[in-house]
Amino acid sequence: MIKVFAHRGASGTYPENTQSAILAAVDIEVDGIEVDVQSCLDDYMIIHDTWLDRTTSGRGKVNKLTREQIQCFDAGNNECVPTLQQTIDWVGNKTLLNLELKHTFSLDKFVELIEANIAVNKLSRENLLVSSFDHHQLMWLKQKLPWVKIGALTASIPINYAEFAQRLHASSIHIDKNFINHEFVADAKQRGLQVYAYTVDKQEDIELMLNYGVEGIFTNYPCNTKMILNSL
Ligand code: G3P
Ligand code: CA
Repeated sequence: MIKVFAHRGASGTYPENTQSAILAAVDIEVDGIEVDVQSCLDDYMIIHDTWLDRTTSGRGKVNKLTREQIQCFDAGNNECVPTLQQTIDWVGNKTLLNLELKHTFSLDKFVELIEANIAVNKLSRENLLVSSFDHHQLMWLKQKLPWVKIGALTASIPINYAEFAQRLHASSIHIDKNFINHEFVADAKQRGLQVYAYTVDKQEDIELMLNYGVEGIFTNYPCNTKMILNSL
């Protein structure tokens, strides 16, 4: 069965990357939840953009503010921007947590936070998947945490991308659905890599991804996607 990942939580129904979107995805019993991680001055926040403007009532850059300042703003439905720790607390080991690292930031504290959560069993190694468009970050992270599953994230198919992802010791490739083709999926599979497509919401796209044989899809509507999959 193809895996269903809630993209920014159940973000088609709740404000993206918020507690309600994350908890709804947990309730739906998705195979995984994808959220975006940005660093601020003193913590890691779950927010997609570098700037607060699009998704919150605040203005300015996330990395110029503290957690306390950022959490004063409304991220939708009177919710605040979650921290990474809050998100780990909510998801726990109930499902896989895919942390997408946005933009380059110091990973030392990130590694500490992950290790601390593993140590107290709040998070298991199997339930963590870290992805990024920034392959240097992934390489660095893999050196620090050799056990961590990494997802090589791309918006297109650079030449020999599956081979590159294999050299990166990725376990999966996360790719824009519009660039997938049979040849690419076959190459990735032959190298032992899973292919996960984003962002797949419509029935016709779900069927297309099944036809390509991808192992997972990121969707803003996990509940609807699961219903469609059950009906096929
Ligand atoms: O991780 C897959 C997908 O979320 C990457 O694109 O812009 O939605 O973060 P974006
Ligand atoms: Ca993302």
